[in-house]
Amino acid sequence: MMLEAAGFQLLTDGIFITFEGGEGAGKSTQIKRLAKHFEALDLPLIVTREPGGSVGAEAVRHVILSGAAEKYGSTMEALLFAAARADHVDTIIRPALKQGKIVLCDRFMDSSRVYQGTTGKIDESLMAALESVAIDGVRPDLTLILDLDPKLGMSRADARRGKDVPDRFEKEDLAIHKARRAGFLAIAKKEPERCAVIDASGNASQVEQAIWKAVESRLLADQKALPNV
Ligand code: TYD
Repeated sequence: MMLEAAGFQLLTDGIFITFEGGEGAGKSTQIKRLAKHFEALDLPLIVTREPGGSVGAEAVRHVILSGAAEKYGSTMEALLFAAARADHVDTIIRPALKQGKIVLCDRFMDSSRVYQGTTGKIDESLMAALESVAIDGVRPDLTLILDLDPKLGMSRADARRGKDVPDRFEKEDLAIHKARRAGFLAIAKKEPERCAVIDASGNASQVEQAIWKAVESRLLADQKALPNV
């Protein structure tokens, strides 16, 4: 299906954009802001998140984030994330893309690569197999990696959380958060055509502008150049 608005001719089956990064990087604020940009252009979109985003995946979300699965080891957790992702892709993401929508997703496969792979120490070939089953060919067109010093990210996450207890992954120590940052940057280096690293240390408006610049230059500019059909 084709998206048409504001001079854009999008000949793809929708556009899939994922947000990645460590704790407190501002993903949820920025996803809302990016959604507003697309809405202003009258482009159809959905906003979703992982773990969760579909009925089946939300059921698994609680099992993982409460820490209930932690005692069964990282492999169990990696399988649960993959199961949740498979359901989310099947029931929400692929159908929306097929309808020509823009899909904005808060975390996706790179979170598994980093949290379960890099810092969860799951074997790379198992992670690759799980990824391939879970995403089943649905790869992001653009991944925005919100990059931030983990010290700053953790203090932002603490302030946001208030008195609530940190979840299974937030409670881990600084060295692990640093390794995750390095993990995301390594993915960006390996797949520069898919990933844009965004400096998330500025205020919300500065980060919003950097994101919009990346989206325009990597996705919309190309599409705009396409001839009308
Ligand atoms: P969430 O409350 O959604 O927090 P955040 O605002 O940080 O995205 O918690 C999701 C947590 O689950 C987060 O700590 C990252 C972790 N996670 C993984 O470990 N693997 C995954 O594949 C995904 C999607 C998330």
